[in-house]
Amino acid sequence: MDTLECIKTRRSIRKFTTEEVPRKNLEELLEIARWSPSYKNSQPWEAIILSGAKKKELSTILVGLLEDGKDNSPDLAYPTSWPERENTNIKNLMAKRMKLTGVDLGTPEMIFKAKKANFNFYFAPHAIYLFQDASLSEWSLFDIGLFAQSLMLAAHAKGLATVPQAFATDYAKEVKECLGIPASKRLILGLSIGYPDKESPLNAYRTERVETGKICRWME
Ligand SMILES: Cc1cc2nc3c(=O)[nH]c(=O)nc-3n(C[C@H](O)[C@H](O)[C@H](O)COP(=O)(O)O)c2cc1C
Repeated sequence: MDTLECIKTRRSIRKFTTEEVPRKNLEELLEIARWSPSYKNSQPWEAIILSGAKKKELSTILVGLLEDGKDNSPDLAYPTSWPERENTNIKNLMAKRMKLTGVDLGTPEMIFKAKKANFNFYFAPHAIYLFQDASLSEWSLFDIGLFAQSLMLAAHAKGLATVPQAFATDYAKEVKECLGIPASKRLILGLSIGYPDKESPLNAYRTERVETGKICRWME
């Protein structure tokens, strides 16, 4: 697949087939993503790839914490408010989803349901966690974001699908304990990965973007 097409056609997938991805194919994605640029080539990224019983064990722990009503404590705090510009984009996304599915994603019941789906990694056969040393600067967050995008694009180019998940970091301490990640690291992102279920209506939705003219200015 052509690079430009890959960037434009990647999207978050939330329904996967049960088919496992061969380990060598997953390894290939990590091998590609590690060529991402980073501040002073510091390469502030580490990954754990989960499959099978271990993935199930973690999902059971996370769903259990949710059902027990445990407060979340992600290493990266969730935004509590948004500036008007970004808030408008979020509202547009919610409104479009509501129109298409009739589901209001803002209600506590739906948030609970959405979190449960996230903690089950949307029943994808594999999940990936990205993390880095907690003492790193904000630039390293930028870098690991580039790594995540490379990983998602590489997956898409190879016929695989992903969804990046902040929710998967809700119970960061417990995730790190389960995966043997030292407490000195910060958990940045979880991703589900597998083959896309192309028939599922859950994957039919395509998000929109603000036109180029509204996000940049030309100066001479
Ligand atoms: C940092 C980050 C965190 C996200 N967290 C979640 C999440 O917890 N659960 C989820 O289903 N999608 C999550 N998403 C996916 C976004 O909702 C999605 O990227 C956005 O709506 C644009 O859609 P697209 O990826 O299909 O282009 C996240 C995306 C990013 C970049």
